[in-house]
Amino acid sequence: MPVSILAPGADVRDGVHDVAGRLVSGRRGILAVDESIPTMNARLAAVGVEPTADNRRDYREMLLSAPSLEHGVSGAILNPETLGQTTADGTPFADLLAARGILVGVKVDTGTSLLPRTAGETVTEGLDGLGERLAGYAAAGARFAKWRAVLRVGPRRPTARAVTANAHALARYASLCQAHGIVPVVEPEVLMDGDHGVARCALATSGVLREVFRQLTAAGVDLAGTVLKPNFVVPGSRVPAAPPAEVAAVTREVLGAHVPPTVPGVAFLSGGLPPELATAYLAALQPSGAERLPWQLTFSFGRALVDPALTAWAGRRDRWADGQRALLHRVEANAGVLRPAL
Ligand code: 13P
Repeated sequence: MPVSILAPGADVRDGVHDVAGRLVSGRRGILAVDESIPTMNARLAAVGVEPTADNRRDYREMLLSAPSLEHGVSGAILNPETLGQTTADGTPFADLLAARGILVGVKVDTGTSLLPRTAGETVTEGLDGLGERLAGYAAAGARFAKWRAVLRVGPRRPTARAVTANAHALARYASLCQAHGIVPVVEPEVLMDGDHGVARCALATSGVLREVFRQLTAAGVDLAGTVLKPNFVVPGSRVPAAPPAEVAAVTREVLGAHVPPTVPGVAFLSGGLPPELATAYLAALQPSGAERLPWQLTFSFGRALVDPALTAWAGRRDRWADGQRALLHRVEANAGVLRPAL
């Protein structure tokens, strides 16, 4: 029976509330291993591994079968290729994760394309046929999804045109996900690229979040069944990094002004930050003592969790456990700083 897009039933609503809450609570976070095939191939090639489907599978299997991963990881975001793959012994990746109590997520956008009448800004694509794909992903075991919008800071950037187009696509994606009982992880990333200061990032992130929540609300998205995946508010990557206390204060101010308290959790992306610095920012953002915040604050890191593991493994069977140890080291470091916020 087709699911109504306008009025999801009570079961669907309860389901997305439950999954969204589980993703961001229990001192766990999200592991993002959803790199596109070209990106994954480039990362494999950089450590001397031939970029084949089997090697992409082996790398993801090394990560996702790491012992006790579930102690610090609530959910894993897979590339659609991985969701359709099995481990070397024939177990579907979705079953491997579900058996460990790790929620299965899938990246559903199809990447960016140039936005006309802008100076090189992009809009994220993937809405065509998305409903059908979501039905297939749900049948394959996915409980949540991810869509990444990309905004750049620069002279007169991001433009209102780019912000509006990306926020609109995020809202359409999010409402389609919920109609299929899938939790949308809403990722509007303001890139670190550039030599701007923290104030420019704060301004851009504020404008983006304001428009994203305006469009989510206009599209009828149930915010209690979503997770926000934003950037930390940081200076550009070509200027010195800001101290954790400053990043935490500015990030909290921006979130406080634009993220409704009905959103259960905020799971930050790492954006190319050095792994230890991403952890320090996450730690500084946590509530102290009896302090209460409107949302759980956790991680949904890609590179800050997996880069050390990729280097340690480097495609060698005899270094499988080294790769897993490197991943677990970062997972434990991040999960270890999380504090209940609600
Ligand atoms: P990074 O943490 O490497 O930025 O990746 C997170 C992610 O999922 C990007 O879409």
